[in-house]
Amino acid sequence: MKFYAATLAVAAALAACLPYAKADEGAQEVVQVKIDAKTQGEPISPFIYGQFIEHLGRCIYGGIWSEMLQDRKFYDAPAMYPWELIGETKFNNEKEGRFVGAASPRWISDSDAIFGVEQSGLEFVKDKEYVGYAWIKLSEGQTSWVRVVFGSGDRVVECPLDKPVETAEDGYAKYEFEFKADKLTLPKEFGSFSVRFQGRGETRLGAVSLMPGDNISGMRADTMALLKELNAPIYRWPGGNFVSGYNWKDGVGDRDRRPPRKNPAWQGIEHNDFGIDEFMVYCKYLGTEPDIAVNTGAGQVDSALEELEYVNGAPDSPQGKIRAANGHPEPYGVKYWCIGNEMFGNWQIGHMPTEKYALKHNEFVDAFRKFDPNLTLIAVGAVGAWDEIIMRQCADHIDWISEHFYVQERRDLVAHVEQVPNSIRRIADAHRRYRKEFPELQGKEIKIAMDEWNYWYGPHVFGELGTRYYLKDGLGIAEGLHEYFRNSDIFAMANYAQTVNVIGCIKTSQTSAQFETTGLVLKLYRNEFGTIPLKSEAPRPYDVAAATSEDGKTFTVAVVNPTSKELNFKFNVDGLNLADGGDRFDVSDEDPQSYNDPDSPQRIDVVQTRFDGSLADGVVVKPLSVALFKATVK
Ligand code: AHR
Repeated sequence: MKFYAATLAVAAALAACLPYAKADEGAQEVVQVKIDAKTQGEPISPFIYGQFIEHLGRCIYGGIWSEMLQDRKFYDAPAMYPWELIGETKFNNEKEGRFVGAASPRWISDSDAIFGVEQSGLEFVKDKEYVGYAWIKLSEGQTSWVRVVFGSGDRVVECPLDKPVETAEDGYAKYEFEFKADKLTLPKEFGSFSVRFQGRGETRLGAVSLMPGDNISGMRADTMALLKELNAPIYRWPGGNFVSGYNWKDGVGDRDRRPPRKNPAWQGIEHNDFGIDEFMVYCKYLGTEPDIAVNTGAGQVDSALEELEYVNGAPDSPQGKIRAANGHPEPYGVKYWCIGNEMFGNWQIGHMPTEKYALKHNEFVDAFRKFDPNLTLIAVGAVGAWDEIIMRQCADHIDWISEHFYVQERRDLVAHVEQVPNSIRRIADAHRRYRKEFPELQGKEIKIAMDEWNYWYGPHVFGELGTRYYLKDGLGIAEGLHEYFRNSDIFAMANYAQTVNVIGCIKTSQTSAQFETTGLVLKLYRNEFGTIPLKSEAPRPYDVAAATSEDGKTFTVAVVNPTSKELNFKFNVDGLNLADGGDRFDVSDEDPQSYNDPDSPQRIDVVQTRFDGSLADGVVVKPLSVALFKATVK
């Protein structure tokens, strides 16, 4: 399907001979767009609107997961950061008799002094409910309680930990608490949280948890509400570079007893509070398809096969039994599996020469297909020498091939925006060439899963890799989507990388969440744009994509205007009879550097209005905008 190439050639010609004739009326220049509704591309895969989440920075912990306490299992027990010890009572971190991980806090008290641990810098919302628990082991006669101080003053809530709800075989008991933050004087205030003890003898503290009461199975209500709006049809998880050092077994079973570990690829701690079962709850809640990446770096085929069995095996299979014991008897039936991540890079745990990795890839695929021949298995790809070897040595062992790209900042606005579609086209072109040139690919249609794509530049404002995005990035993401539409025959999936905080299209503070401009654009197209792409020709630097809905009853056309000119776009649509008027959706601002921030009033949003008249007579397109128009087909 070559309509993308024709589109580009004609667009270039149009740019040369039809530069924006002046409108008869009004001050705007006119941009003529030709849409040929009789030349349709292949249906756009819904998975083009996929997303990626990784255990990195504040994507999951501090973004999606609602735990408010840091290091709740005391991984960093020797330093106790960010906890602080209360009192002078004799303290050490004991391996012997620990609750989880390498060690657990232990005190030996010989007086009536109060002791315990405290964490500050936690943000509370006025009148919100909070819930939590602590696993502790007390000596006879000791008392314990939780204390929350709002602000720096004397506004305090105390909850006794005196009635255990559960006692484990090793003597640790679970005490629950809940409180309402009704003593705040401001809508939001920072405060501290402590677990306190008094009385003589030995005291052990295992794990603690504090979450807002409105958490959704442990996930943040504010983030999940935006993710619902984003409406992504598929999520890739758990990495990324993380997966090449991840032991999936650390992430299943009793959440409080799962070991905290150093993140194998990134900074910080992997708490293992969010594992396979939580990911499946996440996907179910969002009504999205899971796409699980397995560890082909440090990991071996046996472990990946056990993971597959844990996820998809019958309840009476060895791993299926464990899943059932963990509360999930029904197999999850996950269809999409990434066989590794970026194994071409020397930054990847387990990186090895390509020819050697090709053998490892094939070994994983043989095992997975033996388990279930109907899975969609996604191989690691990278345009160039890597792809040339992998595509040839593994052609029979690939359903889709993964590609990744990230672009940085360009000084010129049009260049900044255009680098996204250019990168997508470069990758599509390479694969079209492989299909032509490699005998091993004859008769095969290996589609591309662009399972990481985005801008990646600028300071990290939202934790590790927490770069901020600007309006200009939103324009580039819109043009990227247009390029996927133009190449709908070859792209099976694209996962914007990533989702929350980490190079994310949603940013969070401790208590708020907001869409970046890139997220607004993804949400807009996912929810409003058609699925059958139509050939469209517009002069650069404007980028136009058109489509009809599957039933052919609705026509959508989207324009990216990366200039500071207000324009009059006239759409000559051949082959469709369109009703006058319709809905329009704009994402725009006068400043390409404008952005949204979770702790400030929202500056940019998708603005829905109506347009009158016919698209052929022209509609105004604002400067620096993405504009999407929807009309009824008569
Ligand atoms: O998305 C961040 C990182 O970028 C991923 O972990 C890795 O796959 C890529 O290099």
